[in-house]
Amino acid sequence: MPYKAFVFDAYGTLFDVHSAVSRHVDIVGENPARVSKIWRNKQLEYTWTRSPIGKYKDFWQLTSEALSFALEAVPGSNKDAHEVLLAAYLSLDCYQEVPAVLSKLKESGAKTAILSNGSPDMLGSAVESAGIAEFLDDQFSVHEVGAFKTDFATYGMVTANYGFEPGEIAFQSSNRWDAAAATAFGFDAHWINRTGQPNEYNDLPPKAVFSNLNGLLDLI
Ligand code: LAC
Repeated sequence: MPYKAFVFDAYGTLFDVHSAVSRHVDIVGENPARVSKIWRNKQLEYTWTRSPIGKYKDFWQLTSEALSFALEAVPGSNKDAHEVLLAAYLSLDCYQEVPAVLSKLKESGAKTAILSNGSPDMLGSAVESAGIAEFLDDQFSVHEVGAFKTDFATYGMVTANYGFEPGEIAFQSSNRWDAAAATAFGFDAHWINRTGQPNEYNDLPPKAVFSNLNGLLDLI
């Protein structure tokens, strides 16, 4: 049976989180790639720390704090780049196949949506800037439940809003940990392994692994 909905993680799956730094390599300092990596890692770490202890903070704020840390931690970084880099997060590049794939999935009659840790404003801005708003039925932000993925309440926003069973929903994430949690929740998770990472979470396997979103077109 075809899926009733295709739901996507945002950052790393639809949007290239490293495009903020790569767009501004000239002002970041001596090691832009390291800054970008630490920025992303800390941004995620803060969500994993805060959610279980009930200390939710808007993802925009966490993204800003993670960037401050990264610029501080990497020697030779230009701390004055903070404002420009953070602003770039509102208009990240989407991966090149994203608009066409979303368009075809939506055309097939399935619901298409984002489920992201991103706060509503930052998501809305990135979606508009990438020109993919017309291909998305919904943008679910965890802000509504005040917890981050992997809390089941976040994945539950989709089933509650659509009235679909978890197994009727295809969930796509480039984050293996997110695909693992979505599998545990009951979604059919597809791991979008864009960077050829080794597998992990062996007891929580995704339904399939694709190197980009084009593989989803075989599922409609
Ligand atoms: C998101 C992060 C996890 O979009 O990438 O939810």
